[in-house]
Amino acid sequence: MTSNLHYTLLITLMASISTVSTNTRYTRTAMVFHWLVALLISANILLIWIVDLLPDERQRLAIDTHKSLGITVLGLAVLRLLWRFAHQPPELPGSYARWERRASKVAHGLLYALIFLMPLSGWLHDSAWKDAATHPMQLFGLVPWPRISLIMNLEPATKEMLHDAFGALHEWAGFTLYALFALHVAGALKHQWRDKHKELQRMWS
Ligand code: HEM
Repeated sequence: MTSNLHYTLLITLMASISTVSTNTRYTRTAMVFHWLVALLISANILLIWIVDLLPDERQRLAIDTHKSLGITVLGLAVLRLLWRFAHQPPELPGSYARWERRASKVAHGLLYALIFLMPLSGWLHDSAWKDAATHPMQLFGLVPWPRISLIMNLEPATKEMLHDAFGALHEWAGFTLYALFALHVAGALKHQWRDKHKELQRMWS
């Protein structure tokens, strides 16, 4: 009786392990995180690109919305990473070359780093802004959001220097994001159209 139970447990365990390793698609939750973060980041970049074309009275609203979307991305990035720790992504098809596996691991790792670095550098940059104290931040004009007090309480000259440094970090992280995004899309399209793998279906419901 006990050995039967052990046998059943072993079979169940093996079945669940094989489900994980033979899965060829991401789960629905992973897809929602992926497309939501991609959409919000694209919207945020678009806002920054068009901000100078807007009339003066709209520019403040555009930048405030940029900050709110960015903080939302930061929240989603935290949830996404926690979720990712508990869920293995599906295996890549066996036919992928070793360099392609390595490149995709590195690119995905860097993209994860950037979805944290972009909002964090923006938040640091904004906290060092000389007028931060007189312009409190509100998420979408609804919920008060704090600046980083460690930075806000520094003396003006140091804040000015940090404002420039974090601004440059935010800008360079943006350039890196553009480059990685291009590689990410190019890689997916190569697998889809040239190698005839169902690459996009892995991340599309
Ligand atoms: C998804 C996250 C974010 C992305 C992808 C992003 C992207 C960018 C990019 C590409 C720029 C233009 C940089 C340049 O060329 O100078 C920018 C500017 C800026 N970002 Fe972000 N950002 C994000 C989050 C944030 C957050 C969370 C804040 C603040 C809380 C913020 C504050 C700013 C500010 C103040 C500027 C300068 C705007 C101006 O005055 O022209 N960003 N951002």
